[in-house]
Parts: sequence; structure tokens; C-alpha cells
Amino acid sequence: MTARIVDGKAVAADLRAVVAARIAMLPFVPGLTVVLVGDDPASAVYVRSKDRAAKDAGILARTVRMAADTPQSALLDEIARLNADPETDGILVQLPLPAHIDAEAVIQAIDPAKDVDGFHPANVAALAMGRPGLVPCTPAGVMKLLQHAGVVLSGARALVLGRSSIVGRPMAALLLAADATVTIAHSRTRDLPAECRRADVLIAATGRPEMVKADWIGAGATVIDVGINRLPDGRLVGDVAYAECLDRAGAITPVPGGVGPMTIACLLENTLEAAIRRRQAVL
Ligand code: GUN
Repeated sequence: MTARIVDGKAVAADLRAVVAARIAMLPFVPGLTVVLVGDDPASAVYVRSKDRAAKDAGILARTVRMAADTPQSALLDEIARLNADPETDGILVQLPLPAHIDAEAVIQAIDPAKDVDGFHPANVAALAMGRPGLVPCTPAGVMKLLQHAGVVLSGARALVLGRSSIVGRPMAALLLAADATVTIAHSRTRDLPAECRRADVLIAATGRPEMVKADWIGAGATVIDVGINRLPDGRLVGDVAYAECLDRAGAITPVPGGVGPMTIACLLENTLEAAIRRRQAVL
């Protein structure tokens, strides 16, 4: 059996079109401001993609670029300005930040109602408690891919490989909210391959190229690969050894063209949601 390939590019294009259509009907223009500190080349590429996608969807998108040696206080001042800016509905500070800046302090300074990354403790708590809030874009995108692939989560064994604040932890909370039986596995997990093999749904978010092998996957399982790793030879691969897993999985996401495009599409949706909720709040 060859796995069904879950086409994130197509699902993301559909979502972007839906968001753009909803924005076109609004009596106002949602605004997104992305803050980029320093000159990390990968971050610059991501920020440009976010900016372009937002503009294409009809969002008023702006990028604030700050020098790598920007003092933390100046960044906090900028966030305070954006918190008060009526044209900014969503604020995204691109990570990683330079080492001299405390990323936690910066995230906590963002108005939770404008936190379109869903990283502020108020949004983290809302997700953990099953209350409405802004949900981190990558795990939100994975949930949409699972839904699109027709995966039944209620009662399913879901395993999240990785425990980062950006992906692993919020991913586990979303799967739990969808009534899956959730395991979070990580570098200290005993017999990782055996844990993975038990899963009906495996979400790989380790940042280790091609770590998940075919014999880690239960026959017919759904495999979602969140990893994007650049190999020394220039190839882009996920956290899953894709080619060998194709004959084992029931459904699988490719890299590139799987989860990646969903992250940006969900950022646009979060910006739209934040814009609507903020205006409802001031009515
Ligand atoms: N760096 C890598 N992924 C992300 C993300 O989802 N949001 C932000 N702000 N920075 C990132």
C-alpha cells in the first residue's frame, strides 16, 4: 500500500482564498505587523513570505526591521507602540531573537488580543483550558490538514514527537481537545520507535532530519511531518524519512508542501480573527 499524500499546498491555498474572501467583505482592513530583529537569513525569508501572503489576502501588512544590536528596551517600546496602534490587529515578533534579548519578556509584552502567534501566556493558558484564544499557527495548520485528510481523532492514539512551546505542547493540547489519546514523546523517551509504532496519528516535530524511520510507523498510520531541515547538500527534508515511510503510512505530508504552507495560511486566519474580535470588543 502506498500512503495517501496530504497536499498542504492545496489545502493552504483554499484556506487563503477563504480568508481573502472574508476580508473582502469586511467594512475595515485587518492589519498585521511583523517585527524582525537582526539579519538571520532564514528569518528574513519567512518574514517576506508572511508579508507577501498577508498583502495578497487583503491585509494591511507591515514589517518593522530592527538592527541585531537593538536593545531589549527599544524592542519593548516598539511593541508598546504596536499594542496601542489602532491599525495593527496582529503583532508577530519573528523568532529566534538575538541572544541578548529575553524572548519570554518580549512575548509577554504583546497584547494577548493581538498575539497572532498564540505564544502569550494568556493564549497558552486558554488553549490548555480549552477556552477561546489565539492558537499557534503551525499546530492549528496540522489540525486543519488532519481534518482535510478525514482522520478521526476521537479515541485515536496520537503521538507528538517533540515538546517545544511553538509546536509540540500546543499540538498536544489541540489533539486532546479533539478527544485523541495523546502521548508527548521527546529525547528522553524510552524506546521511542516502539512508542511511535503504537500511534494512529504521528506528528513529528523534532527538528532532526529524517529521524523517523519506516519501522517507527504503525501500518496505515497518519504521519504529519512538521520538520523543515536543510541538509549540507542543499536538500530540504522533514523529520520523517519520507521515501521509506511511503509504503508504511496510510497518509503522509511531504516536505516541502505539507505543513509549511499551512502555517502562513493560519497566520492570516488568526489575523482576521484577531481583527474581528478586537472590533467586537470595542463595540
Ligand atoms: N520562528 C519559527 N517559527 C516561528 C513562528 O511560528 N512564529 C514566530 N514568531 N517565529 C517563528
